[in-house]
Amino acid sequence: MKKLFVAMAVTAAFGGVQAHENLMADVAVIGAGGAGMAAAVEAANLGAKVVLVEKMAFAGGNTIRAAGGLNAAETNVQKARGIVDYKASHFADTMKGGHWLNDPALVKVLTDNAPNTVEWILALGGDLRDVGMMGGASQKRSHRPTGGAKVGPEITQTLWNACQARKDNIKVLTNTTVVGINMKDGKAAGLKVKDNKTGETYVIKAPAVVDAAGGFGANQKLVVQYRPEFKGMTTTNSPGATGDGITLAQKAGAAVVDMREIQIHPTVVPEGGHLITEAVRGNGAILINKDGKRFFDELSTRDKVSNAILKQPGQVAYLFFDSEMQKSLKATNKYIKADYCKTGETMADLAKAIGVKPDVLAATIKAYDQGKAAKADEFGRKDMPFDLTKGPFYAIMIAPAVHHTMGGIKINTDAAVIDTDGNVIPGLFAAGEVTGGVHGGNRLGGNAQADIVTFGRIAGANAYAFSQTSK
Ligand code: FAD
Ligand code: FUM
Repeated sequence: MKKLFVAMAVTAAFGGVQAHENLMADVAVIGAGGAGMAAAVEAANLGAKVVLVEKMAFAGGNTIRAAGGLNAAETNVQKARGIVDYKASHFADTMKGGHWLNDPALVKVLTDNAPNTVEWILALGGDLRDVGMMGGASQKRSHRPTGGAKVGPEITQTLWNACQARKDNIKVLTNTTVVGINMKDGKAAGLKVKDNKTGETYVIKAPAVVDAAGGFGANQKLVVQYRPEFKGMTTTNSPGATGDGITLAQKAGAAVVDMREIQIHPTVVPEGGHLITEAVRGNGAILINKDGKRFFDELSTRDKVSNAILKQPGQVAYLFFDSEMQKSLKATNKYIKADYCKTGETMADLAKAIGVKPDVLAATIKAYDQGKAAKADEFGRKDMPFDLTKGPFYAIMIAPAVHHTMGGIKINTDAAVIDTDGNVIPGLFAAGEVTGGVHGGNRLGGNAQADIVTFGRIAGANAYAFSQTSK
């Protein structure tokens, strides 16, 4: 398998025409993250000529950073592990987690199609054969690579390989920023783009456009415009997550929804914004405060967990786990080698390393184990896989950080963009974090990966179909 995320700069001809002159395609896609690449692959599978435009030097966006997993219910992977789950439960958890602000029609598309999304990734050669627990989920449905490795690199590599395998149909332009969506007679007509290296602008003509340019978590100004209380907060996001796709679509007439719904993730290393995956809690870690005490159900939704941490001394907490839990999740292999992770051979050693009284930490773990044995946790936690008593022990200081923007471009179930009068904008489609409505007031961990691939595929297929009708 080709392990290469860096796309070639396109200098060669495409369809017999030089790249910077009158480039033409059936479908032009903005952004080579998970949604954009899924759209490109699906459109190419149907026969489309696609130009995929990425402003960064490489593909992946926020997608490559994803850690915990991809949610889907009733999958063959779950069935093989004896996990009984239902699409209806996935739907109900998603609506409840999003405070019922979500568009139920979009959520239904997500939860009905997510199992097929897992099969699609597996068929492309990706590994999603492990399943774990995430916050706000009633069942283990977060699909991830074997052993609990990070999901984002796996999805990105799989989609990147699929784009490369369809080179005759998919042309990737990296270091190229989309600066406008061209419209003609009220319909999408292509893109205006800028070569980041030369500064040259040129046009890509296409009767259908998919906007998959991601969210705006890295755009501090825009975040603060909607949520002043997040001023100065660090972010987990890729520098490319600046919300360009939302502005571009608005200029083409698109409506936006839920723009102030911005998620903060509870477990981020304060220095540097390194995200510690929710799967660590899902696999058994607990949260303790600076006094060495637990304070909340670690498997609650991330809005509630973040708020609980912000009420603790110093507005920080420690993720605490033992060696048994650590060995259950590959994603932790890197964490325990990092400077930010404190280690102790005994629980008392670890307590000293983080400035907590050893007897307080011991009492916290004893109470946890008593609750586990009685199936009656004092904070209401349901899933408690490990006793957390096997050394060595680990603690990572964490605090909430800006993580996901739930608001964005308004779409319908065909991933068609809706204008400010409520009508479809012909030829303009959108998918992924650039859109709003799927996750409502709070996204569940693992639902974005399901969203971007599912709606990316829908957008790609419908964009190609539209391009054929306009011939
Ligand atoms: P992106 O992957 O961000 O891709 C958008 C692309 O568009 C980027 O490459 C960007 O550079 C490009 N772009 C932007 N503007 C332009 C422009 N003007 N011209 C050209 N290109 C442009 N979700 C889960 O479900 N499970 C997880 O485990 C998980 N873990 C996460 C961990 C981290 C650290 C982060 C940050 C997010 C995580 N998420 C997770 C959320 C999820 O990864 C993202 O919501 C999702 O990947 C977004 O995908 P996307 O394709 O919509 O956008
Ligand atoms: O913590 C995480 O692994 C992040 C998951 C998500 O944003 O869905």
